[in-house]
Amino acid sequence: MPPKLLPILLLLILHTPSHPFPLLPPTPHPHNTLLHAHHPPPSPSILDTIDLKHSWPSSSPSFIANHWNKSPVLLKNSFRPDDELYPTVADVHALATDDDSETRLITHDASKDLYSLELGPLSPSELSPPLPHSIVINDVDRFLPHVADWMDANFDRFPNWRRDDGQVSLASKGGGIGFHVDNYDVFLIQILGTRNWTIEVEPLSEDEEFTRLDDKHDVRILKASSTKRTVTKTLKPGDMLYLPPRIPHCGTATSDDCMTLSVGFRSPSASELLSAMAEDVGERVRSGASVNSRYSESNPDYILNNPSRGLLTTEASDACKKILLEAINGVEWDHFYGKHVTTSKRFRLNHPQPAGPEQGLWGDPQSAVSSVFDNNNGMLFQAEGLTFAYNANSDLFIDGTHFPDIPPPISRVICDNRCLTKSHFDSILPLPRALLIDLVSRGFLYGCDGL
Ligand SMILES: *[C@@H]1O[C@H](CO)[C@@H](O)[C@H](O)[C@H]1NC(C)=O
Repeated sequence: MPPKLLPILLLLILHTPSHPFPLLPPTPHPHNTLLHAHHPPPSPSILDTIDLKHSWPSSSPSFIANHWNKSPVLLKNSFRPDDELYPTVADVHALATDDDSETRLITHDASKDLYSLELGPLSPSELSPPLPHSIVINDVDRFLPHVADWMDANFDRFPNWRRDDGQVSLASKGGGIGFHVDNYDVFLIQILGTRNWTIEVEPLSEDEEFTRLDDKHDVRILKASSTKRTVTKTLKPGDMLYLPPRIPHCGTATSDDCMTLSVGFRSPSASELLSAMAEDVGERVRSGASVNSRYSESNPDYILNNPSRGLLTTEASDACKKILLEAINGVEWDHFYGKHVTTSKRFRLNHPQPAGPEQGLWGDPQSAVSSVFDNNNGMLFQAEGLTFAYNANSDLFIDGTHFPDIPPPISRVICDNRCLTKSHFDSILPLPRALLIDLVSRGFLYGCDGL
């Protein structure tokens, strides 16, 4: 293991409480480049604004009623800038140079209007190139327990399975990743510095996206439209922009050390479910009877008198459709669905990793569970970046793994709490000890001392 990985892994396993990092003042940068505006003049009235007064959108009735899944909105004053749990510049630099992280560096040469992409990990000298740039890292909550805590606390009313990983971008003045469109609901949370977001107010169809893709760049960027209505807003720390799926948007840092955290919400489409199911069916080819059924002529005599060898008969067409639908119906839907929506979309190696002997007490699943539940000492955390969910039919799903026959009250405690202590199980007797030990030994839960 490369030595620079160690601090990250330790952080992951030990769940150290966060340190208070003050907001960094924007530092002057010698290479600021003027922005080029490539969009029609903004019309400020076409985007609603809600002042959250230091609450979060999931507890705002007007946001949920008028905007969630429906229309873009600027949400002002979501968190207090002194919350201190969000990612810091030092966190981003540490992750960007880590072999395990999913990092991209996007630079923008404004003179050629060209975006270029470099894949991480970055060397320390690559962290601040002279051109306006943006360091983009996915899965940050997986690596930064304090960020996982923060996202969890603040998005707590949204179902676990809907929330994707956190993506952070740290940009120099003028940096950004160009106009693009996402297939999910997203909150773009301004953490540090300021950023101008230009959005088109109408969703973009797949066809329009295809014709507007600008293939001169390394990244998937749309040409600006001269006909769409756009609006530009400046976000300060604590502000966030909510966008439903397929609203084109372009963020440009208007200060150095401009940090934005994007939290996306997955919304599976029929085509995504269909292709995931095809994969699932493919894996069951060796075992499943329904997926192995095959077409054969129900009336072979037909061949003796066949009037037209080119004809696709209704009989054959219907028979093929029937075996397909039978195979789909043969899928245990609840199990497929639960596994599918709790599986991470990120590419991950060795995650989660069970704690090892070097973690002492916490490295042994049996003694970890005994410490928390027999001795009331320490706590168990959900491993960062995993999705925990359950259903009313006693199925528990964690990161794509299915645990059958778990009574819902037990799953509920495990899935609804990022951190478990003895008191969470007070009303549940007997303690599901074997399950908890199993979850710790798989690395889905990990134990640590109190905060
Ligand atoms: C940022 O957006 C504001 C409108 O909110 C605009 O007045 C300002 O000129 C923009 N700044 C840059 C650098 O584009």
